[in-house]
Amino acid sequence: MNYKIALVPGDGIGPDVVAEAVKVLDAVGVKYGHQFEYETVLAGGAAIDAMGECLPQNTIDVCKKSDAVLLGAVGGWKWDTLPGDQRPERALLGLRKELGLFANLRPALLFEELAEACPLKPEIIEGGLDIVVVRELTGGIYFGEKGYKDTELGRAAYDVEQYAEEEVRRIAVVAFDMAMKRNKKLTSVDKANVLESSRLWRSVVTETAKDYPEVELSHMYIDNAAMQMVRNPKQFDVIVTSNIFGDILSDEASMITGSIGMLPSASLAKGNFGMYEPVHGSAPDIAGQNKANPMATILSAAMMLRYTFGLSKEADDIEAAVKAVLTQGGRTPDIMSPGKVSLGTKEAGDRIVAAI
Ligand code: NAI
Ligand code: MG
Repeated sequence: MNYKIALVPGDGIGPDVVAEAVKVLDAVGVKYGHQFEYETVLAGGAAIDAMGECLPQNTIDVCKKSDAVLLGAVGGWKWDTLPGDQRPERALLGLRKELGLFANLRPALLFEELAEACPLKPEIIEGGLDIVVVRELTGGIYFGEKGYKDTELGRAAYDVEQYAEEEVRRIAVVAFDMAMKRNKKLTSVDKANVLESSRLWRSVVTETAKDYPEVELSHMYIDNAAMQMVRNPKQFDVIVTSNIFGDILSDEASMITGSIGMLPSASLAKGNFGMYEPVHGSAPDIAGQNKANPMATILSAAMMLRYTFGLSKEADDIEAAVKAVLTQGGRTPDIMSPGKVSLGTKEAGDRIVAAI
């Protein structure tokens, strides 16, 4: 099969880590007989320098006609003095909006080899951790009506949390589909004891569950979920939640796994289209020095294979290869510990390719 991938390397370490992900994808292509076709486009600071705007129309067009997008990171010191609406980071919001990316997937996967980086007690994480937070990305309080008004107590400010049935249903479907591909266990997180929007959320998720009789669905309040995430995180598999709760809970979950250099993410639209990127930024302090950990981006490419292309065996292969390199003791500087083998960005990529 032929797959079209738009590459948006961006700024800083973005090009360093995207190059390694491409190497890994090509190795998977050779092994399984797939053809990955790439078209590289500009966004962020690189686009500002070359074309005067952070998200050129051509970039949007190329992304739209591709099957998936692989993004490095955007931004950096060089553009820090630009006004907010002209900064490279605007390219991200623009892409999410233009591409209709309403579902944000953030796995929190703890490799046993890196367990010493986890802030939780060893007995809590024994056997590893593998959670995916499915966060609604284009609705809720971040996009609701907001404003100021005068009250008896002085100026008041408000932000409205509003969810329409269809917004909840489509994110619930993504989460149930994900649960079906994993361990058939889904936790929906809300605040239905207090919020009307959460009561609607809960009832739509429960309705959607009728189409997924094999999935074991439970509901949990956000305050309890935040507590359970550090008390007994192994109880979670797939979590689905609103924009604001997901923002907070996915950051909490990601801390459990240690380095930001290990964390992938996906943002999905209708019909399997997705944009895949590491959680970290452009790390200008180590850009171009062969120091960045490419694993977050390589694991993002694995998510692309699994969720957009339906190539789960190939995705498993990449994840197993990353794990193999860690087991061999290979470490980039961000995850280095005494007695391990020091690897640069390129060497880490080469080792993962070799393991595939
Ligand atoms: P950052 O994630 O770029 O860096 C934070 C720290 O983590 C730095 O010390 C960096 O060296 C380290 N780090 C990050 N990724 C790493 C990797 N793969 N391997 C090893 N070490 C790694 O966050 P920061 O410093 O807040 O932001 C730098 C720039 O990136 C800013 O312009 C920011 O706006 C932008 N940014 C872009 C994002 C995106 O494109 N999705 C996300 C977050 C920040
Ligand atoms: Mg956040």
